[in-house]
Amino acid sequence: MTISNDDDLERLKEIGRVVANTLAAMGKAIEPGMTTGELDEMGRALLERAGAVSAPELCYDFPGATCISVNEEIAHGIPGNRRIAAGDLVNIDVSAQKNGVFADTGASFAVSPVSQRIERLCRDGRRAMWTGIRQVGANKPIGGIGNAIGAFARRNRYTLVQNLASHGIGHALHEEPVEIATWPVSSERRIMNEGLVFTVEPFLSLGAEWAEDGGEDGDAWTLFSSPCAPTVQYEHTVVATRNGPLVVTLPG
Ligand code: CO
Ligand code: CO
Repeated sequence: MTISNDDDLERLKEIGRVVANTLAAMGKAIEPGMTTGELDEMGRALLERAGAVSAPELCYDFPGATCISVNEEIAHGIPGNRRIAAGDLVNIDVSAQKNGVFADTGASFAVSPVSQRIERLCRDGRRAMWTGIRQVGANKPIGGIGNAIGAFARRNRYTLVQNLASHGIGHALHEEPVEIATWPVSSERRIMNEGLVFTVEPFLSLGAEWAEDGGEDGDAWTLFSSPCAPTVQYEHTVVATRNGPLVVTLPG
C-alpha cells in the first residue's frame, strides 16, 4: 500500500507495534525443552489480546498463528511438537492484521550456548537487514536494496538465499511491489514511490543459496536451506518517505 494520509499511517504503526511486541516477547520466552507449538500459542494469545489476527492463518490457512522454523528449516515452519534445544537457531516470523492493515516482522534467535560463528551470523543478519533498510526512501531505486545487501554479504563471506524475496504489504500480507530482491538483480528498474510500504527481509547464510520445499516427504509449507547450512532472517516493515526509511515494526 502507499500511505496517503495520517489515518493509514497510524493504523500501520499500530499493527507494526503489535507484531513487533509479539515477536520480542516470543523471542524472550524461548527456552530449551519447550515446543514450537507452545511458543506459537503464546504468540496467538498476544495477537488476540491486541485485537489483531494472524496474517498467515487469515490469508493462507496456515496451520499456526506464527511461522517458527528451526535450524535446517528457514521459513514457513509449522509450529508443533518439535522441542527447542540448546544450540538451535530458531526463526520466528510474525505477521498480522488489525483494522484492515497488515504488518510483518521476523527474527532469528540462537539458543545458547552457541558457537561464535552462529553468534556472528545472527549479528550480521541484522546488519544485512539494516544495510538494506538504509537504501529505502521516496524516489530511490528498489534495486539499491539488493545491491547493498549483496555487497555486504560478499564482503563478509556470506551467501544469500535468492528465492525468498521481500514484498509490498499493507492492504494485504503480500501485494505490489512483489519480488523485491535482497540480492543484486541487474534488471531491477522499479522506484519506491513516496509512502510505499514494504518489507526488507534478507536471508543471510553460511552457505545456503536457495529455499527448497520438502518434496514428497515434506509438508506443504516448510522451506529448507539448500545447500543445508545455518541461515538467519531478519525482517521489518518500512515506509519509503522523503526523509528515508520509516520502520514501523519496532517494539514499543
Ligand atoms: Co515475515
Ligand atoms: Co515478509
